[in-house]
Amino acid sequence: MNPRKIRENIWAVGTNDWDRRLFDELIPLPEGTSYNAFLIRGSEKTVLIDGVDPTVEGILLNNLRSLGVETLDYIVSNHAEQDHSGAIPSVLDAYPGSKVVTNPRCAEMLMDHIHIPGENFILKEDEETLSLGDWTLQFFLAPFVHWPETQFTWLQEEKILFTGDFLGSHLATSDLYVRNEASVYISAKRYYAEIMMPFRRKFPKYLDRIENLGVEIIATTHGPLYDRPEFILDAYRDWVSDNVKNDVVIAYVSMHDSTGEMAACLINTLIDRGLNVKVHNLTGVDIGELAIDLVDAATIVWASPTVSVGPHPNVAYAAFLANILKPKTKFAAVIGSYGWGGKMLEQLQGLQSNIKAEYLDPVIIKGRPRKEDFSALERLADQIAEKHTEAGLL
Ligand code: FEO
Repeated sequence: MNPRKIRENIWAVGTNDWDRRLFDELIPLPEGTSYNAFLIRGSEKTVLIDGVDPTVEGILLNNLRSLGVETLDYIVSNHAEQDHSGAIPSVLDAYPGSKVVTNPRCAEMLMDHIHIPGENFILKEDEETLSLGDWTLQFFLAPFVHWPETQFTWLQEEKILFTGDFLGSHLATSDLYVRNEASVYISAKRYYAEIMMPFRRKFPKYLDRIENLGVEIIATTHGPLYDRPEFILDAYRDWVSDNVKNDVVIAYVSMHDSTGEMAACLINTLIDRGLNVKVHNLTGVDIGELAIDLVDAATIVWASPTVSVGPHPNVAYAAFLANILKPKTKFAAVIGSYGWGGKMLEQLQGLQSNIKAEYLDPVIIKGRPRKEDFSALERLADQIAEKHTEAGLL
């Protein structure tokens, strides 16, 4: 992508990655992604805010050249992960003498991960500033969005906040700014669910700080920029809160349809009781879609057949991932079928020590469900409905 002008002397110089479909060899990218980097030309100093993924570093360097950048004084690194830092060594080669400006923890990680020599750094602590001449950058530490070294950079006079990954979205789009909020909402929620959710308790104070700054533009490293910051700030306020919705996620696999019949019974009964049901067949599921539904759901039900003595591996995988994501789920249950025995319940609960949910009565049966098993599933639906009613959700 060519450079795009944000304001006079401020440019977006990163690029979309339209084709990438997997991040960290784990996270699906149905809409591609972008690696945003920004060039700021102050009256005395020129600075690059973040780099890009090393696979597209040639585009970043071309963009700097096309803008006539002959000297780069500073490269601010808000986050050491390689999709932003990976191009920094090449930028340093192209602009010898430029310094990497970041906090001490980020500098240490950049030394470890991409071998930037220690003498290349200018270190800044929380709230310290850097003059560009007519403009001033200020740095705010914001650890664990989503690594421990992360920070924000604030261009004071222009009221632009560069937040690194925070508030971003894996979305390749030609829009420099968010233009379709409904679409970006889903992409940003997916990004939050997959990457940020485990650290949600740290975020309210970051949101407070951003709101108190009076930000006009939020420039993240992934996805379109926000020129209506309240859109994404309000969304994050909702997602990071302890509030859950009247939603039940049913994540299931069935091999010979016994568990499938059980899941169908539970789904229908829950709908009859007035609950919203989000169903994910874990055979070939986009795990990001499950993660999105876990952001808000009050209840999750794992439904699995027994493979050997434990849950189906697809269910175990999803439960393991959910445990990493630490959703605010309040209630959980396990249903499923076995052929001759097993420890599915114990194994699934053991995989979810991070999820502080109250476990409701399991329904784990031998073989294909009988009348009394469907009755047990209806009682479980009643129990879930009661819990949702007590929580004021229904
Ligand atoms: Fe976009 Fe955590 O890197």
